[in-house]
Amino acid sequence: SKKINIGLFGFGVVGQGLYDIIKTKNLNLEIVRFVIKNPNKKRSLPQELFSTDKNSILQNPEINTVVELINDTEAAFEIVSAALKAGKNVVSASKKMIALHLSELIDLQHQYGTSLLYEGAVCGSIPIIRNLEEYYDNELLHSIYGIFNGSSNYILSKGFNDGLDYPTALKQAQELGFAETDPTMDVGGFDAKFKLVIAAYHAYGIVVKPEEVFNLGIENLSVQDIQYAKEKELKIKLVPYAKKLNNQQVALYVLPRFIDKKELLYNVDYEYNGVIVQAAFADQQFFFGKGAGGHPTGSAVLSDITALRYDYHYEYKKAAATDGLQFTNDIELDI
Ligand code: HSE
Repeated sequence: SKKINIGLFGFGVVGQGLYDIIKTKNLNLEIVRFVIKNPNKKRSLPQELFSTDKNSILQNPEINTVVELINDTEAAFEIVSAALKAGKNVVSASKKMIALHLSELIDLQHQYGTSLLYEGAVCGSIPIIRNLEEYYDNELLHSIYGIFNGSSNYILSKGFNDGLDYPTALKQAQELGFAETDPTMDVGGFDAKFKLVIAAYHAYGIVVKPEEVFNLGIENLSVQDIQYAKEKELKIKLVPYAKKLNNQQVALYVLPRFIDKKELLYNVDYEYNGVIVQAAFADQQFFFGKGAGGHPTGSAVLSDITALRYDYHYEYKKAAATDGLQFTNDIELDI
């Protein structure tokens, strides 16, 4: 099969995770160039492999696949757009960038006949985007909800299961490479919201601006809230929802909520994520797996890279199929 020559942007937690996986296997793919922002940072690989010149990837005819794993949202959008325009396929894990620029990214792919895949951007190792794209008929999908952020779930689990205080648990989540550079993204429910917006697109074909979606995080939970939950044998989890209210409206929101021990999400702890998809006739499915960390996320990125071998691209077919379906920020608190 076609050899994949990769230009990799970013060598942080996920970039290194991807590199570790690739080097253990003979996959007929190679990272030809590494481009990073800071040339002085100590790396686990020889310094001469790294460049700060993005054109060493973007203008390199040998490279057919660009993998974008950087932190800076606007720089990521520039790189991904330039690569798609240069006729290269792209894999990205930048959920904020994708959620903010969805419609432009869709247009670019159509215009230039290139493909952008981002399974690693949503719930780490859980293959939820391809499932929503391919498996479900959007007309039959009732809801998608779950635990989409590993860091906040880690902090909550450390508190509930191990009695660890919030700042220590947050510090651990950062040290383990789960948290965003700005942890407000995690604990404020923003990261979960970006992932929800992306999932809602592949589920229902609706492009929603993240700023229109209500999110409440876990950072203001009080000791009393936690005490109350414990007394009632409940846990508190940060839960994003995409929910079809009727044939015209889909509600999206992110909220902390009490979870009873009979619920599937009750045992989704630490950096694990869980996604529940409810559909007519199919009833419900539950996806469970690691939602953060270099290796789990790197494995999703690798799956996208290898899917490009057979020219996989998102069909975005649901957009056409869901004529009339619209986002609403009406929050139905029947939860
Ligand atoms: N900060 C994210 C999380 C990383 O904690 O889930 C994975 O997207």
